[in-house]
Amino acid sequence: HAADAHRTDLMTMTRYVLNEQSKHPESRGDFTILLSHIVLGCKFVCSAVNKVLLPNLFLSAFAESCIYNSSSTCTLETCSWPFMNYVIHDSVFRHIAGLANIIGLAGETNVQGEEQKKLDVLSNEVFIKALVSSGRTCILVSEEDEEATFVETSKRGRYCVVFDPLDGSSNIDCGVSIGTIFGIYMVNDSHEPTLDEVLQPGKNMLAAGYCMYGSSCTFVLSTGRGVHGFTLDPSLGEFILTHPDIKIPKKGKIYSVNEGNAKNWDGPTTKYVEKCKFPEDGSSPKSLRYIGSMVADVHRTLLYGGVFLYPGDKKSPNGKLRVLYEVFPMSFLMEQAGGQAFTGKQRALDLVPKKIHERSPIFLGSYDDVEEIKALYAAEE
Ligand code: AHG
Ligand code: MN
Ligand code: MN
Ligand code: MN
Repeated sequence: HAADAHRTDLMTMTRYVLNEQSKHPESRGDFTILLSHIVLGCKFVCSAVNKVLLPNLFLSAFAESCIYNSSSTCTLETCSWPFMNYVIHDSVFRHIAGLANIIGLAGETNVQGEEQKKLDVLSNEVFIKALVSSGRTCILVSEEDEEATFVETSKRGRYCVVFDPLDGSSNIDCGVSIGTIFGIYMVNDSHEPTLDEVLQPGKNMLAAGYCMYGSSCTFVLSTGRGVHGFTLDPSLGEFILTHPDIKIPKKGKIYSVNEGNAKNWDGPTTKYVEKCKFPEDGSSPKSLRYIGSMVADVHRTLLYGGVFLYPGDKKSPNGKLRVLYEVFPMSFLMEQAGGQAFTGKQRALDLVPKKIHERSPIFLGSYDDVEEIKALYAAEE
């Protein structure tokens, strides 16, 4: 039976990538081993994010029940909150509350000048350790580390990984979807690796992807042969292929931008957003959707179509998003899915970064929508 076969013929990410890689034996499984360590990091962050969510629910409900009970000595045992009628043993609650302790600020600021959240720091440590222990990497660039990590010779491999361990940090404490973004370069040759190995245009990436921690844990990956989506089956602890060969609609009905920056936008961006709201051809206006986590805004754009913009402006001419571990991976995926990505000046993947935390304006999404933006910038030249 086809349905049964489908149910029992589980296409896990490892199996899928091995199949893909078998068409390109030169990877000798190294890539698959590297990917399995990235997946390990994502599974950790996924579980940590859920632990943040869970205590928030209990904590707020528990606080509420204390208020109702108006008893200052309200403890879990006496908590009469209706559906929490089973006693949560102190140890369990403390354990959860302890994990909840990973919300809030870590008390440091990163090279971006951002206040680091605890989960930013924790996720970064997990990914660095997982990637070094894979024995397949030689340079690691993370949003959370000012300098690149050069892996010690004994553990060195052929890949450079650039990553944003936790994207959308401002959304952690309120439970809105966040994610991890990564890009993978192959080292050019065996001489002592230098930063030049990662100051490469995005078109030289071997693979790119993201993991989104939302209502489900979704991993989207491209190794240069299309874009494929996998969903974590918590009962198996495996990512299962759920979205084979994702293609972005050629044109969309959604635009995604932080309208709060409109005062500082340049002419073409202002004109484009105006066209979205007041179409000159009598078509209906586009909808605005903006989550504030790039992973979530890009995932919706990939599946529904439309365009995501983080333009430069008078205050920040290069915009906010970082080239290596936000702009390049998402642009790589968009092109692989039949869309495109533009910086306001050129194809995003042609950019050659000079610094590892360099920023660039980005306009990405449905092919035809980005064409309109390119025409507006060309007219300005
Ligand atoms: P990060 O949390 O990794 O620093 O990234 C945040 C980024 C990106 O996720 C999102 O698209 C953008 O910041 C939102 O910026 P604004 O709040 O300025 O709109
Ligand atoms: Mn950040
Ligand atoms: Mn980010
Ligand atoms: Mn981040």
